[in-house]
Parts: sequence; structure tokens; C-alpha cells
Amino acid sequence: MAFPIHRMRRLRTTPTIRRMVRQTQLSKNDLILPLFVRPGNRVRHPIPSMPGQHQMSVDVAADECAEIEAMGIPAVILFGIPETKDAVGHSSWGDQGIVQQALRAIKQRCKQLLVITDVCLCEYTDHGHCGMVAERRDGVKDVDNDSTLILLARQAVSHAQSGADVVAPSDMMDGRVAAIRAELDKAELRDVPIMAYAAKYASGFYGPFRDAAESPPQFGDRRTYQMDPANADEALREVELDIAEGADMVMVKPAINYLDVLWRVKQRFGLPTAAYHVSGEFAMLEAAAANGWIDRKTCAIEATTAIKRAGADMILTYYAKDLAKWIDEGI
Ligand code: PBG
Repeated sequence: MAFPIHRMRRLRTTPTIRRMVRQTQLSKNDLILPLFVRPGNRVRHPIPSMPGQHQMSVDVAADECAEIEAMGIPAVILFGIPETKDAVGHSSWGDQGIVQQALRAIKQRCKQLLVITDVCLCEYTDHGHCGMVAERRDGVKDVDNDSTLILLARQAVSHAQSGADVVAPSDMMDGRVAAIRAELDKAELRDVPIMAYAAKYASGFYGPFRDAAESPPQFGDRRTYQMDPANADEALREVELDIAEGADMVMVKPAINYLDVLWRVKQRFGLPTAAYHVSGEFAMLEAAAANGWIDRKTCAIEATTAIKRAGADMILTYYAKDLAKWIDEGI
């Protein structure tokens, strides 16, 4: 050859050398599995748009958590589908709430598993919005920020009192982290960390989740509180504010379409950072794999590795059990 060739392929020749030079390694420590709990007994109700995922009654969720703990997955995040819904989401903060019941059952069974709870009102309100709805001065019905804060804080305290190890507000109200921190502290729950869904976008990719949690908004959409997908600088401001208000960990959500945001958040703030590979991202891969158009395992690993490469310390993913198994097998 008359010209020099830079031999990049040398370090790709065998699985062993590839393994040695691999920069990003998925670990079980990265994984958080979302679970949906609903009333009943021995209920394991498949979620059609999320193959392999189920709504579970408390007893089944506790069994599931024991299995998850034994697999070496460190954490789950709980979502509740309550018996009753109303305008303000009363069922979200009662001692007998579905998440509260699940927390007690799971914490009794599992001594190591970290149980995170999603703090939001959309699963508990009959209108499906993430807070209390009121008429704005222009006559439009919208979520009222400040009255919602009180309810979110009440829910977070109730989760923590029932055993939640971490609370994760996902509502996107302004000031919720400060409100929750203040109430946790007042209730002597100073040790309970807050994982803030800090940069949460108004995404079409939550579609399957809203079936799973039975929480689609009954009017309008979430664009007056969740972020505009076009904005990145604003995400840094959201994260900065949540940190200033006392967030211990921050989250970017969804993941794959927002890897640039994830990267900037991790680089700028250096806090433990989570990314949520959301229901629609999961459903797309599952649908394509079911059609034989892509390879399920290859693509699931590729997607979650990319999320970690972009800066995630933790990944909320419906693939957590699969990944744990694949990691055990040496990927
Ligand atoms: C509750 C909440 C949502 C998700 C997590 N918490 C739905 C939403 O905001 O509409 C989405 C998770 C997923 O899609 O997997 N506010």
C-alpha cells in the first residue's frame, strides 16, 4: 500500500479484546425496574402495549420483588392503579393506598431491595392530570401549581411512612422538590432521598404507560407542565432548580431522544443521574422484534448501553430483568 492505513480493526478481532477495550459496561447496579400495582389478589394482568409487563396485585408484586432482589437488581419504582379516582387524587395519600400497601408488603419480604415510589397525581385523578385542576384567569382549565404542591408533599410523606426508600416526583410542578423536602423533614424523614424527574418532556412516547397506569388525561394534554421536546437549555435550568430545592438525584425522561440533554445534565452538574427508557421506547423495540425486523436482545442492549454512555448512572427500564439475565450470561 502506498498510503498508511490506521489499523482500527486490530482491537476488534476477538470477543476477548473487545471486552477489554469496551468503555461502557452495563451493570446490574444501573437498573431500576418499573412495576404497576393494582388492587386484588393473585392478579397478574398483562399490559397489551408492553409485552411481558403486568399490572400486579400487592401479593404478586411482593413475590415479583423477591425474585428481582434475588436476581441482583437493586431497585424498583412503584406506580399505583387505585381502586377509586377523584378530582384531587385522595387515594394517593391514604395509609391504605395501593402503593402504601405494596410498600409494606415488599419491605417485609425484601431486605435489600431499594423501593422508589413515583409521586404524581395522574394515576389517582379522574381527569388524569398530574395535579389539581382549576380555571386559569383566561378561562382555560389547567393544573394549578401551588395547590398541587400540598397534595404531592402529602403523598410523598405517606409513601415514606409506608417504607419508601426514595421518592420520585414526576409531576413537573414548579417548587415540588422544595415542598416535598420540607414536609419530609417536618415528618422526621430527613434520610429519605428525592429522585427528581427534573427534565421530563411532554412526550408521545408515554403512550403505553398511560394504558398501563390507566392515566391518560381526559382533556387537553400535559404541555402546560411537561417540557417542550424542542428545548435543551431549559432542561439545565429545570435540573439546576431541582438541585437547589434539594434533589439528591435527577432524571432525564425519555432517554433515547434526549441523550444530548442527558449528556449535558451529567457533565454540568455531576449528580447521580437517572434516565428513563420509557414505555414507548420499549414498545417500539418490542413491536419491531415481534415482527422479526430487529433482534430484541441486540437492540435492548444497544439502547441501554447508549443511555449509560451518554451519562446515566441509573436506567429505569422495562428490560431490567432481561438485562440482569444477559449480564449474568456475560452479555
Ligand atoms: C406520571 C408518569 C408518567 C410516566 C412516568 N410517570 C406518565 C406521564 O407523565 O404521562 C411515563 C413512564 C413511561 O412511559 O414508561 N406522571
